Amino acid sequence: MQGNILIIGASGQIGIELTLALRAKYGNESVIASDIRQPEDPIFEEGPFEILNVLDKDRLFEIVRKYDIKIIFQLAALLSATSEKNPAFAWELNMSGLFHTLDLAKEGHLHQVYWPSSIAAFGPNTPADSTPQYTIMEPTSVYGISKLAGERWCEYYHLKYGVDVRGLRYPGLIGYRSEPGGGTTDYAVDIFYHALETGHYTCFLQENTMLPMMMMEDAIRATVGIMEAASDRIKIRGSYNLAGISFTPAMLATEIRKHIPSFTIDYAPDFRQSLADSWPNSIDDSNARVDWGWSHEYDMERLVSTMIAEIKKKKIIKV
Ligand code: SER
Repeated sequence: MQGNILIIGASGQIGIELTLALRAKYGNESVIASDIRQPEDPIFEEGPFEILNVLDKDRLFEIVRKYDIKIIFQLAALLSATSEKNPAFAWELNMSGLFHTLDLAKEGHLHQVYWPSSIAAFGPNTPADSTPQYTIMEPTSVYGISKLAGERWCEYYHLKYGVDVRGLRYPGLIGYRSEPGGGTTDYAVDIFYHALETGHYTCFLQENTMLPMMMMEDAIRATVGIMEAASDRIKIRGSYNLAGISFTPAMLATEIRKHIPSFTIDYAPDFRQSLADSWPNSIDDSNARVDWGWSHEYDMERLVSTMIAEIKKKKIIKV
């Protein structure tokens, strides 16, 4: 990646970790963080930060000019559960942010654009096991519809205007630096805080709901990896399937009990169950592995032990 980088949505689940990773690699001053609100996390004091509402294209352009930005990671979005509560706004935010960024690239201001898609772009008619890259995609959630539409627009801008845009269909992402942010897969983040604080968790998904998941460190490596790959290795301009591990709430609870034997879980599925039921159980990401050399590192044991150790450090929780 050559040139200054702007991260939009830098205080979100992925944004915080990506800001840290890119600053460590490219220097604090080359990576400009932005979000709609001033974040409290002190990590944002280590480099430039700008307030940006991605719906405001003029303000976005002003920041691009001010810092001579050449690469944008457009991460601002409402996640699946939050989107269901406000479909019109979710559609506006998730799509306008992408268009504003793609248009700046089309007009020649940017070298590269990154935009995240999701397993939510699949739907209930998609084959659920080892879901292939090319398959039936009929998402039934507002968030999933916006992701599938966005993928198509990314490819369109690449084919018609030569925009160097890249994307990944993330599985559920599990990290310890940010709190859960309104996603269906976020039970698998929330559960650790409850396990450590109260020893009990009431899960909003059923015990046998299998979903594709990934440790945040792997997701960040994939994100930086696809953006650093030579352009001719990127054969898919919509979004690549990306896989780590798959598990159910019951499997996760069993693994947590290895560290906290008294941990208990019960189940009270809500509207998020139908979102989860419409998504795959596991993903075939062989295109990413072959095209630009992706491989994941975290298995479930390592994911759980890392989450517990890091949240304990952060919250100074005693169990
Ligand atoms: N993790 C997201 C969510 O649950 C899916 O991409 O909303």
